[in-house]
Amino acid sequence: MQLDRQIHDKVFCPFISKDEIAHKVKNLSSEIQKDYLGEEILFIAILNGAFMFASDLLKEIPGNIQISFVKVSSYIGAQSSGRVDELIGLNTDLKAKHVVILEDIVDTGITIDKVISLLKSENPASVEVCTLLFKPEAFLGKQLPKYIGFEIPNKFVVGYGLDYDELGRNLNEIYQLKEE
Ligand code: IMP
Ligand code: MG
Repeated sequence: MQLDRQIHDKVFCPFISKDEIAHKVKNLSSEIQKDYLGEEILFIAILNGAFMFASDLLKEIPGNIQISFVKVSSYIGAQSSGRVDELIGLNTDLKAKHVVILEDIVDTGITIDKVISLLKSENPASVEVCTLLFKPEAFLGKQLPKYIGFEIPNKFVVGYGLDYDELGRNLNEIYQLKEE
């Protein structure tokens, strides 16, 4: 049995086990392989959070696929006062490619909406989202992720790539913020 963990000032309790994650990752990879039979997929994993999920999911896919890792960066543009978002690290041509974005969690959906529209501007053949975790109560986005591992309540979680103020990413299970 796993124990509660203290990270910074908060206590987290075990929420999704190693085995449950592994089982779900296998199911997601089978679903994707079935849907893209005979197609080459370009997976784009969003750093930092998706590193562990991407690594485990892609080990379950034996065919020829490509993987690219990107970061989303936001800054205030020099010429305007508006927020500008860009993807760092995308050095692959997306033209006519079938893109599957890998995310650790879709919460409000704001991040993934931006990533989708930035990627679509590069004229891929298709763009879908595969997220390990999804918080339906928090979601305000336009497009629901096509592949969802676990729908979870609107509570903060850490582990398996997800952090609380940069700690907790290395945990091999997912923990949920403990109610006081
Ligand atoms: P968004 O609200 O869907 O735009 O989510 C933005 C980002 O916030 C996600 O990619 C995660 O990195 C982070 N995030 C959202 N919810 C959680 C959580 O419960 N734990 C850790 N990080 C989270
Ligand atoms: Mg993230």
